[in-house]
Order: sequence, then structure tokens, then C-alpha cells
Amino acid sequence: MEKFSGDGQRPITIELLKEKPLPKHIAIIMDGNGRWAKKRGLPRTIGHRYGVESLKKIIESFVDLGIGYLTVYAFSTENWKRPEDEVDALMDLVVEFIDKELDYLDSKGIKVNPIGYIERITGLTYEKIMTAKERTKDNTVLTLNVALNYGGRQEIVRSVKAICQNVLSGETTIDEIDEEFFANTLYTGGQPDPDLLIRPSGEMRVSNFLLWQIAYSEFWITNILWPDFKQEHLWQAIYDYQNRQRRFGGLKS
Ligand code: FPP
Repeated sequence: MEKFSGDGQRPITIELLKEKPLPKHIAIIMDGNGRWAKKRGLPRTIGHRYGVESLKKIIESFVDLGIGYLTVYAFSTENWKRPEDEVDALMDLVVEFIDKELDYLDSKGIKVNPIGYIERITGLTYEKIMTAKERTKDNTVLTLNVALNYGGRQEIVRSVKAICQNVLSGETTIDEIDEEFFANTLYTGGQPDPDLLIRPSGEMRVSNFLLWQIAYSEFWITNILWPDFKQEHLWQAIYDYQNRQRRFGGLKS
């Protein structure tokens, strides 16, 4: 179904991708880990483990390409409904990822930026997340937003409450509130919106991810399951993105 050969004449390479503006920010819903495991008769948690391997490779590709922002959906506010052992396994994978990868991430200038209702996460996972955030806070090469206990609606409600508080205290006037002001109150405040949203595993849903920020994002959906998602798929998504016309509600130029 997908082709991996650019315009059919030149293979997709970093050099080819760099000939046109790259997306500044890509968001990824790392979906399909469970199905990947089931197809192999393995527990779902093994699928998540292989999902982390895909994430590591994709982070390296971002560094190679020089793309400044990557947001990955690691755990949604709805994922607490999953069996306890799966929730625990996901939390443990976050700990393991930080233990194994923090030196690498920091050495490459990657800022680990957890987004979501992180305070609800407890114990060692919370401690590790905060350690990673603190240690990498001044890094500027790539901001890795890890959406953990994240929900787009929760994020918007949180912002509304914070703004209401500020209006009540007189710190903000109602006239000051516009789209830019609101965007700056979100977890991703100050960052460019995602240009591209990638969803593996063929689902055609947004799943409460970055509801405000993806207003004008291009979608790239593939049947590849996340543990099988490789650099070539990322490159294809970027190539396709570069060859689309973005109009932001205007007319073709
Ligand atoms: C969706 O697949 C995936 C998740 C809910 C979890 C994604 C998390 C990781 C890859 C690990 C996160 C860890 C770090 C280090 C950030 P699914 O389970 O819904 O798959 P299915 O739709 O095939 O069942």
C-alpha cells in the first residue's frame, strides 16, 4: 500500500527531506502494541516493550533530522481503565526507559518534558519523571513531550480553571484572553503546534490527544503497528507531509 521511494525516481533520504521545510513539531499516537503482541501470541505488555524500542529509534531519527519537537502519547487519562497489571507494566517501562536512556537523551540535548496530569502518577515512576525533567530542562536540541496521564479535555479544563483564577485575582483581564494567550496556558505553551500527527495501526481517531494543538495538523495514518514503525515510515510521513498543500482555511496559493 505504501511506497517508500519518494517521487519514484529518488529514494527518500535525509538529504531529500532537508530540501524542503521540515515539520517543526510531530505528534505520534503510539498505537497497536497490543495487536502486535496478540498476533505473536505474546502478552500485551511485551508489545509495549517493543513499542519503547520503536520510540528510541524514532527519537534518534528526530535528532538526525534536526526536528525540534516530538510529542508522544504514552498513557492517556482513560488508560487507567486497563487491567492493573498492564497499567503497572506501562509505569515500569517509563522507569526503565528513564534509567536506561537518560544519559543518552541528555547527551544529545533532548529535553524530557512530561505533559499531562503527572501529579496523579505516584511512587518511583513520578520520581523518575521529575528527575528526567529537572536534569534535561535546559536542553534545546529536541523537546520530547511525553504525554502521561494526558487527556486533551482535561488539559483544556485545567487551562480554563487557571485563567478563571487569574481573572478573579485581577491578574488577567477578560480582554487579554485570546487564542495565543490560551495556547500559552496549555502544557505545550510556547511550543509550535504539531504540523503533523502520525497514527499507526490504522485507527481513524484522535483519542483525546492534543485537541487544541492539532487544529491545523496534517494527519498521516498507517496500518503499520507501532512496534513495527521504523525510520523509513517516519521519513515517508514527512515526505508526504512536505508534498501536501496546507491552506489553514485559506485558498490555494
Ligand atoms: C497503545 O497501544 C499504546 C499505549 C496505550 C501505550 C504506549 C506506551 C508505550 C509505547 C510505552 C511508553 C513508555 C515510554 C518510555 C514513554 P494499545 O495497547 O492500545 O494497542 P492495541 O490498540 O493494539 O491494543
